[in-house]
Amino acid sequence: MFFIWASASAPSFVSSWYRMLLLSFASCLALICPVEIMFIVDSSEKVKSLLFERQKQFIMRFSTKLTQLHLTGWRLRLRLAALQYSSTVSVEHNFRDWQDLDVFQSRVTAMTFIGHGSYSVYAITNATQVFRRETSSSSLRVVLLMTDGTDHPRSPSAVMAAAEAKQHNIRIFTIMLSGLSSDPVSLPIGAKLRSIASPPPQQHVFSLTDSHLDDRLFNELVSHDGQTCNRCCGLKCKESPLELVFVIDSSESVGPGNFELVKDFVNALIDQLSVSRTASRIGVLLYSHVDMVVVSLQQQSSQDDIKAAVRKMPYLGEGTFTGSAIHRAKQLFHASGPGVRKVAVVLTDGQADPRDVMQFEETATEAHAKGIEMFVIGVMNKTDPLYKDFQAEMNVIASDPNEEHVYLIDEFSALPSKKNNVIIFLTGIMLLTVGRLGML
Ligand SMILES: *[C@@H]1O[C@H](CO)[C@@H](O)[C@H](O)[C@H]1NC(C)=O
Ligand SMILES: *[C@@H]1O[C@H](CO)[C@@H](O)[C@H](O)[C@H]1NC(C)=O
Repeated sequence: MFFIWASASAPSFVSSWYRMLLLSFASCLALICPVEIMFIVDSSEKVKSLLFERQKQFIMRFSTKLTQLHLTGWRLRLRLAALQYSSTVSVEHNFRDWQDLDVFQSRVTAMTFIGHGSYSVYAITNATQVFRRETSSSSLRVVLLMTDGTDHPRSPSAVMAAAEAKQHNIRIFTIMLSGLSSDPVSLPIGAKLRSIASPPPQQHVFSLTDSHLDDRLFNELVSHDGQTCNRCCGLKCKESPLELVFVIDSSESVGPGNFELVKDFVNALIDQLSVSRTASRIGVLLYSHVDMVVVSLQQQSSQDDIKAAVRKMPYLGEGTFTGSAIHRAKQLFHASGPGVRKVAVVLTDGQADPRDVMQFEETATEAHAKGIEMFVIGVMNKTDPLYKDFQAEMNVIASDPNEEHVYLIDEFSALPSKKNNVIIFLTGIMLLTVGRLGML
């Protein structure tokens, strides 16, 4: 649909939108929460092949279930690894080689039983090493350690190794191969598994014999992920309020008919912004030889009020005093507090009028210095002899990089006026790096 719309009306616009689309997908990676989960299989002689196969079956089931892992507002990138241990450790699938679930599961299926003494400490230290080598410290790191709880007498302490793993932000679940019973023989085993697991133990110690194991474990992962993701993506994902000012050219060259198309476009963007984001404030500034604040940022208007005000904007029809308009837009942001993302969208079809006392080069530079991110939508036929100059002017007004901030179209009728992929896309660009990107 995106391509059909575009090729029918404005091929050049499309190619720049398309380029942006690719760029934005690249930037979106910053908003992805990486989830790295390692299954650790007890392959020691006490386990025997029946319990060994049962662990593999659990991995097959649970890895399939994990593909349903979703967190609202986040894109997860899930990678799995598998390691088995007895007196030696064998990494059967590491994170780096992750391709897809099929490949992972075929490696798990191919795992063969080792059957020597049990040294869970080595499993944990080797696992920690794999995490440190192959995953980002800000990712969500999870170990699912299966064990019968009794190590070889000469084995160093697994609890110490686990403590170190936790320092590297690895969340450890222990899955006991037998039931968790309270008889005197298994009490110390339970205590040990609780010390290996992350706190609190009731959320991190499970049993392979539990018929609800899969659901319980899954719920545990889901219920904590939100917080962990916030932490892992850090400031990039932190939601900051957005203030957006439209700066709309209403000069003679626009013409009253096109001016109505501009209103449709602005209102379509406002619609999309409000559904995508609750905490944005919107201002509207109209200009020609004078400027007119249609909606100020302080007004706290509802979406419908803003759209009605846009609809009622008068056509001014004189010079293009872009320099003064940018200056005025900058003033509108004066009351914006720290941590507010300030965005201006300038929509114009002509070069700045030399009669304007304010030079657009200066006012644009000042606006950039004040931290206002400027987008420009410029309308001019490519065959126009002034096109090159116009383009250069748009590049001066817009923030860097220009490829992300300047959109040039041939004619006003190429402005999308309804909710379509381009509108959704432009909103996405404006919200990018700020927070949730549910619509992209
Ligand atoms: C990994 O496991 C092996 C046993 O296979 C052990 O000798 C080695 O010390 C472990 N590596 C680390 C870093 O713990
Ligand atoms: C651009 O101008 C040329 C020449 O005046 C005209 O033929 C063409 O249709 C115009 N293109 C658009 C998209 O308005």
